[in-house]
Amino acid sequence: MTVIAIINPKGGCGKSTLATHFAAYLSLHKSEVMLGDVDRQQSARLWLSLRPEQLPKIHGWSVDENNFARPPAGVRHIVLDTPGGFHGFSLMKVTMSADAILIPTGASLFDRQASTNYVQELKQLPRVAAGKCRLACVGMRVDGRTKNGAAIERWAEEQGLEYLGCVRLAQAYIRCLEQGLSIFDFPTEKVETYLKEWRPLTQWLEEVLAAAPALPGSVLQRPEKTTAADLAARHSMLTSLRAS
Ligand SMILES: Nc1ncnc2c1ncn2[C@@H]1O[C@H](COP(=O)(O)OP(=O)(O)O)[C@@H](O)[C@H]1O
Ligand SMILES: [Mg+2]
Repeated sequence: MTVIAIINPKGGCGKSTLATHFAAYLSLHKSEVMLGDVDRQQSARLWLSLRPEQLPKIHGWSVDENNFARPPAGVRHIVLDTPGGFHGFSLMKVTMSADAILIPTGASLFDRQASTNYVQELKQLPRVAAGKCRLACVGMRVDGRTKNGAAIERWAEEQGLEYLGCVRLAQAYIRCLEQGLSIFDFPTEKVETYLKEWRPLTQWLEEVLAAAPALPGSVLQRPEKTTAADLAARHSMLTSLRAS
């Protein structure tokens, strides 16, 4: 089982967007995916409830940060969406089984400063300190017309953090969220410009998965193969995404 946690103390920095996109990517390319929602706001759960049925299944898991138990058995891939202001004991418990933590961060000085203190806290987590949990960061909602991406990259270097590039500020992400969709759900040729910026992220995800120990058998349903009808449905979703 692989556990990937999306963590940053600030609200609105793109945690739920990243978590839902990772879960969608894994559901399309792997199997037995669970999207765990530790956040009381339950954004990831809401997104899941809006997700069209014809897309590969993502299992939902609502988790209480104060009573965090081990992830359910039989799941292969877990993506955890977490709340802002996530510190101390709750942070330690939730990350106890994490194989990787991804820190989305905005470009502003305030965003970087909040993340700086947090990175130090994350580096002291037992699994991170022991080298069992990989840490990386990604710039989120970065205006492509500015040099903000470079500022985040410099910041990541100062922190000794692996840097996975930036996800641009784009209306498509807001629309995706509202329809239970992700960029990955659309036909590749229609979203190539978006997929380009996700490549370092999905590459990192694949590396994390490859490093995790393999699981024999599973109790959850495998996703069915993508059919021509699925692809047609995805095309029509893209039209509605553009129209809304
Ligand atoms: N790359 C992006 N471009 C535009 N809007 C984004 C992007 N990423 C996230 N958003 C929007 O920003 C808001 C906050 O993002 P969200 O993922 O909910 O952050 P968090 O979970 O950290 O609070 C949401 O409305 C989301 O749709
Ligand atoms: Mg959120």
